[in-house]
Amino acid sequence: MPSPLEYAQQHRADHLAELKDFLSIPSVSTQPAHAADTMQTAVWLAESLKAAMLENVAIIPTNGHPLVYADWLHAGPNTPTVLIYGHYDVQPVEPLEEWHTPPFEPTVQNDFLYARGASDDKGQVFIHVKAVEAYLKTHGRLPVNVKFIIEGEEESGGASLRAFIPENKEMLAADVALVSDTSMISRDQPSIVYGLRGMCYLLMDITGPARDLHSGSFGGGIDNPLNVLGHIVARLKDENGHILIPGFYDKVRPLSQEEREVLSRLPLDEAAWLAETGAPEAWGEPEYTLVERLGARPTLDVHGIIGGYTGPGAKTVLPSTVHCKLSMRLVPDQDPQEIAQLFQEYVQSIVPPTVTVTINGRGGAPATITDRTIPAMRAAVTAYEASFGKKPVFMREGGSIPVVGQFQEFLALETVLMGFGLPDDRIHAPNERFYLPNFYRGIETSIRFLTGFAQLES
Ligand code: BES
Ligand code: ZN
Repeated sequence: MPSPLEYAQQHRADHLAELKDFLSIPSVSTQPAHAADTMQTAVWLAESLKAAMLENVAIIPTNGHPLVYADWLHAGPNTPTVLIYGHYDVQPVEPLEEWHTPPFEPTVQNDFLYARGASDDKGQVFIHVKAVEAYLKTHGRLPVNVKFIIEGEEESGGASLRAFIPENKEMLAADVALVSDTSMISRDQPSIVYGLRGMCYLLMDITGPARDLHSGSFGGGIDNPLNVLGHIVARLKDENGHILIPGFYDKVRPLSQEEREVLSRLPLDEAAWLAETGAPEAWGEPEYTLVERLGARPTLDVHGIIGGYTGPGAKTVLPSTVHCKLSMRLVPDQDPQEIAQLFQEYVQSIVPPTVTVTINGRGGAPATITDRTIPAMRAAVTAYEASFGKKPVFMREGGSIPVVGQFQEFLALETVLMGFGLPDDRIHAPNERFYLPNFYRGIETSIRFLTGFAQLES
């Protein structure tokens, strides 16, 4: 009988073929046209968990997309339980014309697998499914108890899981959460993320005249909501990235000297990082380093503006209503609701009486910091080191994974963020990809984590 590690090595081709199937279903949770596909992906994942010999596999209906649950709980009462979280939904693929291969026809080129969701997050979810399978198909048992909770709405706000967690504490009870939905600092340098930024996402609508007006007959006499929007956006932050909303920074926990020291040692190759973006220069608050600005400082960014005439040719119009989508990335101890309130008050204080503004929230989550001293972190360090030949570094990530804060709040669970993505995986962008050697090493790392965590805790 092979060991779980040998099993994983022997079945690499199968694991890749199955991952391609998983990736070929377009589970774009935010687009209603893909609702049936998203459902089908949940069914596919549930079948795959069953095939991995997990038990109590369930597709749990919600008001949105279903949750997928599975467990294996026979390791014994004094053995710890690991709750594995991930998401089977993916980001939209637009602009489609920029993809070199179709986003839902997974394609291997060199060592990369190209597809929407390859890295974020289907490929990383699948790592743990296959690690558990390797154990159950060889030893017939796991060294620890394992529960999977995989959601289908992470990329569109996560409302269903947020409602589910406080109502199902018993079902989700565990000793630690394990999440692979982040990146390593580079190919050969594993990283454990211990800090994530939070998020406050807002939609702003600005209305002037009751209908579109001719800009010759009315321009100069009626204010233009699109110009007003430009003025508002210009007053949200200065050229150096300082946010101008009064009170915005009041609760920001200052970076300690010790933490700045730790972050300054991260081996981030700034030139390579910049080259990957294609931007002419890096940018941001001058008093902070790049690593600090990316993970430990709050931001405000406009994501989309809709308004006026955008079709071919020229049309002279004063638009009636315009829309703006924007978000603020938050750090400890900023409160998303309080930040939304401050934003609202500030905008209302600067908006002219010529228009009306309405602001609506579209999801918020506080930033999180994980305790780096828990036993599961030691198990993760050892597992990474054995699989990658290098000790992981600890870093803070600028992205958000709202469930991490909910696990802390409702389940008193710390999360080990065991990421296997890379900074140039192009998540949320065209030509998303996953570096396959890290898919296979990821499975090995997960196997070693389960083994090591059982030994540490017993
Ligand atoms: N996997 C990402 C979070 C992430 C991004 C980790 C970059 C590491 C690097 C996650 O799926 C995501 O995109 N989250 C959203 C959350 C938001 C919609 C609340 C994000 O960060 O924009
Ligand atoms: Zn993700």
